[in-house]
Amino acid sequence: MDYQYKDVFSILDSPCIIDKFRNSISIFKEKKKIIRILIPGCGSNTKIQQLCYSIYKENIDIYAVDWSEEAIAIAKKETNLLNIPVEYINCNFNCLPFDDDFFDIVIISNSIVSDSHENNINALNEFARLLNPDGLITGNFPCAFGMFDYALTSGLADHWLTTGIVDIISRTVYEESQDMHQRFFTPLELFSVCKEMQLKIESMNILFYDGADFAQQMSTLYQLPYNENFSLWGLYVNIKKYTL
Ligand SMILES: C[S@@+](CC[C@H](N)C(=O)[O-])C[C@H]1O[C@@H](n2cnc3c(N)ncnc32)[C@H](O)[C@@H]1O
Repeated sequence: MDYQYKDVFSILDSPCIIDKFRNSISIFKEKKKIIRILIPGCGSNTKIQQLCYSIYKENIDIYAVDWSEEAIAIAKKETNLLNIPVEYINCNFNCLPFDDDFFDIVIISNSIVSDSHENNINALNEFARLLNPDGLITGNFPCAFGMFDYALTSGLADHWLTTGIVDIISRTVYEESQDMHQRFFTPLELFSVCKEMQLKIESMNILFYDGADFAQQMSTLYQLPYNENFSLWGLYVNIKKYTL
């Protein structure tokens, strides 16, 4: 089963995360052409759209996709208020109405989070199809090992240590507070899956979800008093196509 979020958990209010995105997204800044950007699973937080616009000004076409109508309505209202042109598309990002090689940048912010490995692979395959040969897929992926580390260090998600952070049969992480399973890539698995799709991981870093906003979201989620030490990590990757 897949979940359709309305009130979406987002890491995008942490300045350190936005900084990371800024570096990668700026890659085509010197190119004198319109840069086409895809934001699959954009959710309701518009920080990525704002960032793209601040880097490329009018030289971009931004397409933001989510299957949650409510999330899109919130995002649309905000970018309209800010006068940032964005084409919102309310659909499943595993099958998108664009030609091959259409996009220069695909920005993934914690959006490949299905409980089905097959769905996650299909999504990546679709983004690979849409990426032009010089293009960049950039963004962050939750990591099961990050969740485990988080349970050990924050004491917030004790259930991951008792009833099991990873269900071995389905290979999913169970998130008790939201009652959902999510199938996360391990670093090696992501590397192998990309290789099969003729995608090359150019860099893979640990990205710490740190800062007051993240800590606040965690304390709200777990209904615990605010603690500035609540932090988590995921994988930040830059991916390109193999060129002959
Ligand atoms: C964890 S939220 C992240 C939202 C946003 N990228 C951010 O960082 O704030 C995941 C988002 O991806 C969307 N999503 C997940 N799978 C999707 C799919 N197959 N098609 C369209 N949207 C999807 C969800 O509706 C949700 O808005």
